[in-house]
Amino acid sequence: MVLVGFLQAQNCTTLASSWRHPESRTDFTTAAYYQKIGQVLEEGKFQLAFFDDRLAMPDIYDGGNPAQVVANGVRVVKMDPVATLLAMGFGTRRLGIGSTASTTYYEPFDVARRFQTVDHMLGGRAAWNVVTSVNDGEAQNMGREVHLAHDLRYDRADEFMEIVLGCWDGWDDDALVVDKQSGLFADPDKVHRMEYRGKYLTSRGTFTVPRSPQGHPVIIQAGSSDRGKQFAERIEANQEQTLSAIQSHVLAIRTALMQRQAAPPEARSEQNSSGTSKALRSRSPRRSGGGKKVTSSG
Ligand SMILES: Cc1cc2nc3c(=O)[nH]c(=O)nc-3n(C[C@H](O)[C@H](O)[C@H](O)COP(=O)(O)O)c2cc1C
Repeated sequence: MVLVGFLQAQNCTTLASSWRHPESRTDFTTAAYYQKIGQVLEEGKFQLAFFDDRLAMPDIYDGGNPAQVVANGVRVVKMDPVATLLAMGFGTRRLGIGSTASTTYYEPFDVARRFQTVDHMLGGRAAWNVVTSVNDGEAQNMGREVHLAHDLRYDRADEFMEIVLGCWDGWDDDALVVDKQSGLFADPDKVHRMEYRGKYLTSRGTFTVPRSPQGHPVIIQAGSSDRGKQFAERIEANQEQTLSAIQSHVLAIRTALMQRQAAPPEARSEQNSSGTSKALRSRSPRRSGGGKKVTSSG
């Protein structure tokens, strides 16, 4: 069983009036509030918690006039979920923590960099819930008149994901050298420029954050329309290479452990110093050719 907590960095739970409960805390803008929630989830053996996001106040009531929702506290406080995830991460030790970010209103290089940085900061516990966003209020807050059509959002999101994954694969696992004696900081053959040109999005690279402890953050996707599932399948296909590489990685770890157990005691410490413990740090290997390709879709 895998336990996942659905969270909101806001003034209430999914029950809009929950802020009025006598025991509801009112410090929902503080790190301490989210850290307490994270600690409770961790104690309850949850594997993952993730924050939803919406880039606007609810505008389905009273013709979009915010007075009523503000007065009644109907999800009117909506904090930045990535900053909130980081705050929760610093107050927990094992919990995986995700945040939502929109492929419609952000730039892929920016999203890739932000989540990869958070994954480093939390020692490989970060996840990204990919959404294409849902309503016109979000469009208007983010400089557009109306929200893009459903399938068009997903077409754009396909390209968005190719850029994000290309960024995350832009650095080989062993690209960082940091050799003070020779003066070589990173191996230029192992840091790749992307040069992505799609129908909707372009990005040159070169990405600026090295691979993280788990390779890159976990990806979550919840769209359930046919087009949404197709989008998820594309991500999955991209990740399949990663999955099969992880499987061979796990097999290598098991084999190394079995060999180690079968070896005489004096040989065990030698094997240990020659890399078995390194292999135990499981991470998403780079996709072959990732981060290097010039792509033109659509
Ligand atoms: C568990 C869950 C969490 C979601 N969180 C968000 C969210 O935080 N922000 C958002 O804009 N959409 C969110 N969605 C909506 C989906 O990402 C998706 O946009 C929506 O289902 C419409 O896509 P579809 O037509 O492919 O189903 C969530 C959906 C589910 C089931």
